[in-house]
Amino acid sequence: MIIKWNKIIENTAPLPAIVSMLLERIDDPKSSVKDMEILIEKDPILASKILRMANSAYYGYPKTIASIGEAIIILGTNVIRSICLAVVTKSIMNVDSSGYFFTKSKGLWEHSVLVASGARTISRILKLEDPERYFVGGLLHDIGKIVLSHEVKPYRLQILKYLLFKDVTISEIEREIIGISHNVVGEMLANYWNLPKFISNVIRYHDNPYEAPKETFRDVLIISCANELSYNFISDELKEFGLSSRRMIFANKYLGELGISKEKENILESMARSIEIFSEV
Ligand SMILES: [Fe+2]
Ligand SMILES: [Fe+2]
Repeated sequence: MIIKWNKIIENTAPLPAIVSMLLERIDDPKSSVKDMEILIEKDPILASKILRMANSAYYGYPKTIASIGEAIIILGTNVIRSICLAVVTKSIMNVDSSGYFFTKSKGLWEHSVLVASGARTISRILKLEDPERYFVGGLLHDIGKIVLSHEVKPYRLQILKYLLFKDVTISEIEREIIGISHNVVGEMLANYWNLPKFISNVIRYHDNPYEAPKETFRDVLIISCANELSYNFISDELKEFGLSSRRMIFANKYLGELGISKEKENILESMARSIEIFSEV
């Protein structure tokens, strides 16, 4: 079984070089501004998209930012890294993920951006160092779905039935139906791509944070919480079945565990705002 998945992972498209280079420096506070500038400017389309984002009202800088170098200095390396990764992952996540009830306009990438911005806001509320790190974790948490979307698609109705009428997570359903979860496949992919441990932990444990290694528990829980909160943004059709209200039980539990009592609406608002801005990319 594992051999089969290893093969599938080896056949998955390689991670764009820019993504691995940016992630490689995720834990390096001294990573050079010049390095990043050169990296981004090699790709003029990417550079122009990043500039457009950097100049959007979302980042609130009053004057026009004219170059990538300026953007990095004004908004900071970590913010530009987040924007860059969000832009680049859009094409990687552009897969038919209807088996997971994603649609063209509310796809895997949109979900990932929602979770990313929710996680960033939570980490800001908790006054953690480098909130952008959580943005990146959220952005990549469901990367295993890229590999499995094709596999789960034929079981769409069966999955829906499970989701609506049994209190189980997507990963439990995946294990039942295809024998492996997007968490495990995602972790395999993260290892294959050499992603940092922080990211692979988030991928592996976001659906079962209580199983995460102790030292990463809170980091994982932040992503899990944002992931549950993202059920506020699912289609009206799924909402009618009571799916989002059921997932809010988990979101509230995780918020309580993180010690957040009043800011839920602020987090949801930041998620809604970011998806609006990023959808222009
Ligand atoms: Fe997931
Ligand atoms: Fe997710």
